[in-house]
Amino acid sequence: MAKRIDVSGLNAYYGNFRAVEDISMTIEPRTVTAFIGPSGCGKSTFLRTLNRMHEVIPGARVEGKVMLDDENLYGANIDPVAVRRTVGMVFQRPNPFPTMSIKENVAAGLKLNGVRNKKVIDEAVERSLRGANLWNEVKDRLDKPGAGLSGGQQQRLCIARAIAVEPRVLLMDEPCSALDPISTLAIEDLIGQLKEQFTIVIVTHNMQQAARVSDRTAFFNLAGVGQPGRLIEIDSTEKIFSNPSVQATEDYISGRFG
Ligand SMILES: Nc1ncnc2c1ncn2[C@@H]1O[C@H](COP(=O)(O)OP(=O)(O)OP(=O)(O)O)[C@@H](O)[C@H]1O
Ligand SMILES: [Mg+2]
Repeated sequence: MAKRIDVSGLNAYYGNFRAVEDISMTIEPRTVTAFIGPSGCGKSTFLRTLNRMHEVIPGARVEGKVMLDDENLYGANIDPVAVRRTVGMVFQRPNPFPTMSIKENVAAGLKLNGVRNKKVIDEAVERSLRGANLWNEVKDRLDKPGAGLSGGQQQRLCIARAIAVEPRVLLMDEPCSALDPISTLAIEDLIGQLKEQFTIVIVTHNMQQAARVSDRTAFFNLAGVGQPGRLIEIDSTEKIFSNPSVQATEDYISGRFG
């Protein structure tokens, strides 16, 4: 099976503290993988190692290998800024650039990439906003501030901004946790559409959401406070939610801890 991401022997540290230990997993193209597990087990940390955002934190470092297609993201000649373009990220709280219009928000990445042609930019803005299911709501106010949209609209704007540069992978860290149920469903529908084109990894505390949107689910856990997070198992979402291989997974998804 073709792999988009192939992680092996990955450890992530904050200073001397090892936050995630010895993670290996593969992710296929055009799938949605959900990361679940109790608070502090390293889901966000691990997610950020997949686009080299972890090391932005002073004292933070990564050991191990993350292959994206045929390239090790931690290889010697890799530019972390280029990695972050190829592996886009959407955060828990929508974070549109506050001084920019809706259109400028979506176009920001393209401009950073050196795209200057107005027609090319306009087309990409429309395509991305349509892709994020936001076009109809904003097409008459593209020059208004992005920060003036509702929370759910802002999150879709951030998704439009992320997909405008056509990343190969889209990482989402609890993208719905600040949203109302209707906006949450809108984002979930959108994830279902986006996976036709992108490979998606989503962290969520919502078990129903993991079950609804993902093809595969990875359960992370930690042995105790101060212990590193580990990948306990990864399998088809159906298997994880009906008949997981590990008791701790069963306990977690059935709400017995966490
Ligand atoms: N910037 C940081 N500096 C030092 N330690 C950190 C930092 N960020 C996270 N950690 C620690 O790393 C461990 C993993 O944290 P992480 O945020 O990855 O967990 P998580 O699974 O995403 O939790 P949550 O579900 O609460 O978001 C925790 O012990 C946390 O305290
Ligand atoms: Mg987190």
